[in-house]
Amino acid sequence: MWNAIAEIPKADLDAADRIYRRWARTQMKSNRFAGFIVDVGGEPVASGCLWLMHVQPRPNWKGTTAAYLLSMFTEPAHRGRGHGARIVREAIRFAKARGIPVMLLHASAFGEPIYTRLGFERTTEMRLFLEPGKRRRGRVRTSRKTARRGR
Ligand SMILES: CC(C)(COP(=O)(O)OP(=O)(O)OC[C@H]1O[C@@H](n2cnc3c(N)ncnc32)[C@H](O)[C@@H]1OP(=O)(O)O)[C@@H](O)C(=O)NCCC(=O)NCCS
Repeated sequence: MWNAIAEIPKADLDAADRIYRRWARTQMKSNRFAGFIVDVGGEPVASGCLWLMHVQPRPNWKGTTAAYLLSMFTEPAHRGRGHGARIVREAIRFAKARGIPVMLLHASAFGEPIYTRLGFERTTEMRLFLEPGKRRRGRVRTSRKTARRGR
């Protein structure tokens, strides 16, 4: 997924993969992480994950869990056939069934049309890196055209 949406050196991606794998396993063990996979002819072609993250109590939000959608990826040859949207709809069903009141995500240029169509709205999140000298690591692609060219 990162390869498609950002310019990050392979060595950094490989290192991040190992860390992500460990982290996801830990979250799964505490029932806070679920994966959704679409198979075509017995082959996985699309997937996405849901992380049930702790959030602070706030007015008009029930409970202290939000469902965070991440790691959405469809193999290029299988895109545009509704697999991505199907995963998002399934993730919404999964979260609703557990009484979770809100789903959050950060959209790539690829993913944004799907999320918008399913009712997601933009928020006003901001960020500031606190490591000395660090700004955004790896340029994020801002259009699907650029992203396709870069693969
Ligand atoms: C985002 C992504 C997971 C969507 O997967 P998908 O299986 O193509 O999703 P869908 O088929 O449900 O929807 C694709 C939408 O992309 C567009 N699309 C149509 N044909 C397409 C194609 N051949 N290739 C790419 N996108 C296409 C359309 O907007 C389509 O919506 P539509 O229902 O109006 O046609 C996939 O493009 C991907 O893996 N991108 C790279 C990684 C990424 O950006 N992940 C998301 C991070 S938030």
